[in-house]
Amino acid sequence: MNNAASQWHNPLRSPDDKRLPQIAGPSGMVIFGVTGDLARKKLLPAIYDLANRGLLPGGFTLVGYGRRDWTQADFQAYVREAIDAGARTSFHDNVWQRLAEGLQFVKGNFDDDAAFDTLAETLKRSDAERGTAGNWAYYLSVPPEFFADVVHQLDRSGMAHAGENEWRRVIIEKPFGHDVESARELNEIVGAVFDEQSVFRIDHYLGKETVQNILALRFANQLFEPFWNSHYIDHVQITMAEDIGLGGRASYYDGIGAARDVIQNHLIQLLALVAMEEPTSFSPAQLRAEKLKVLRATTAVGPFSDTTARGQYTAGWQGSQHVVGLREEEGFDPESTTETYAACTLEIASRRWAGVPFYMRTGKRLGRRVTEIALVFKNPPYQPFTNGQTDLLNQNAVVIRIQPDEGVLMRFGSKVPGPGMELRDVNMDFHYSEAFTEQSPEAYERLILDALLDESSLFPTNAEVERSWEILDPVLEYWAEHGAPDDYEAGTWGPASADAMLARVGRAWRRP
Ligand code: BG6
Repeated sequence: MNNAASQWHNPLRSPDDKRLPQIAGPSGMVIFGVTGDLARKKLLPAIYDLANRGLLPGGFTLVGYGRRDWTQADFQAYVREAIDAGARTSFHDNVWQRLAEGLQFVKGNFDDDAAFDTLAETLKRSDAERGTAGNWAYYLSVPPEFFADVVHQLDRSGMAHAGENEWRRVIIEKPFGHDVESARELNEIVGAVFDEQSVFRIDHYLGKETVQNILALRFANQLFEPFWNSHYIDHVQITMAEDIGLGGRASYYDGIGAARDVIQNHLIQLLALVAMEEPTSFSPAQLRAEKLKVLRATTAVGPFSDTTARGQYTAGWQGSQHVVGLREEEGFDPESTTETYAACTLEIASRRWAGVPFYMRTGKRLGRRVTEIALVFKNPPYQPFTNGQTDLLNQNAVVIRIQPDEGVLMRFGSKVPGPGMELRDVNMDFHYSEAFTEQSPEAYERLILDALLDESSLFPTNAEVERSWEILDPVLEYWAEHGAPDDYEAGTWGPASADAMLARVGRAWRRP
């Protein structure tokens, strides 16, 4: 580690002033797997958006590494297309021209010494000619089986090693393994070459505005803290539902499934933010220490036959469109037992949360796309209303809507106007889109910028990643030994076993 990034700051602004975004210092980025879906749909547009917002340094250089037989012009055309299709901010030719000057493509495999030597020369040339100053971020947008090769090559060719006042960082995409053992192996491979402070593991949920707002909601307000505990909260539901299917993603998803793809990372991170204690500051070390502490107290509760559910979508209707089931999707084994829906029950052994189940669920081809965290309240200990007056009243709830209609909702009972006394649920609702005029930046924009700035708060540490596997592994092992997932029809809210899982304890999933 070194302090090159901290040498770059606006002398008129305190480095501690986080109200406005900081501009990345002289640097460049190499993307491995630049022809993949993630790079095309998310990374390249995010880099353009950063450039457009003036947050990248003047000589920013983006090097794509891949197997295609591309000329520099082909690569430029590819990047331009990705920007046209995915950028959030409007297109400005001068921004594009400046970015395009710094685009380089290097052709090669991940085990190709000569190609990595060419890459190293390309970076040196850029340092000399474009002022990237020896500061490089290596984005591994590749499947984990290639991590070892790429990291080894970065080491061998000298690219992993920063000179004085330079930095080298590695940004890694999930999946970080498929269980705790394989995650440890991956962490060892990366850790043998890069020290932990130089490793940025992406969980793109942490880059979402609404996820960061959990910290603001909880720790900047007095309103919520009094009830944020087992005295008032009956249970918590964390839902990430998607309406899309898995056509075209078989090579990544088959054999991985919903729990590994989403619960192990995104949903467990959401749980950590909702359940953690207040950090002493928002420094990366303090924030991560609190997250890790709560994760260490979190376990999956059994018996898993009753407390978990999993499913696989079959053909059905998604709105007005008829869609095929997973086993008919292109690339999937017709015998595939990969789950596309997963639900489990977690508990936290702490004074604040003991006895409050955290129900986690995620699925593809569900009723609609929505991610939310619902804290559902206990019923009042005594209810003076009688004779069916409260029949239409549900438990109070605070719902943090992560997406798509970002905001926070409070549900409580209110008297129906009229001479009688009947109570019904009403909502008090905050919508980002109404309260603010600014559009939230795409998660990857924030995370790429943070990695260039050496701001690591929003990146899970290897300890968090390994702990998340430890929480989930017992459920995965149970499923592996107990047959295939249940079916659910596309466009519905998951298998009947998921409803039964909550009905068994007198509860029900929210219909978001
Ligand atoms: C990714 C998963 O991490 O998140 C995908 O691998 C999923 O399966 C995606 O579709 C969802 O992201 P978002 O930001 O659209 O909720």
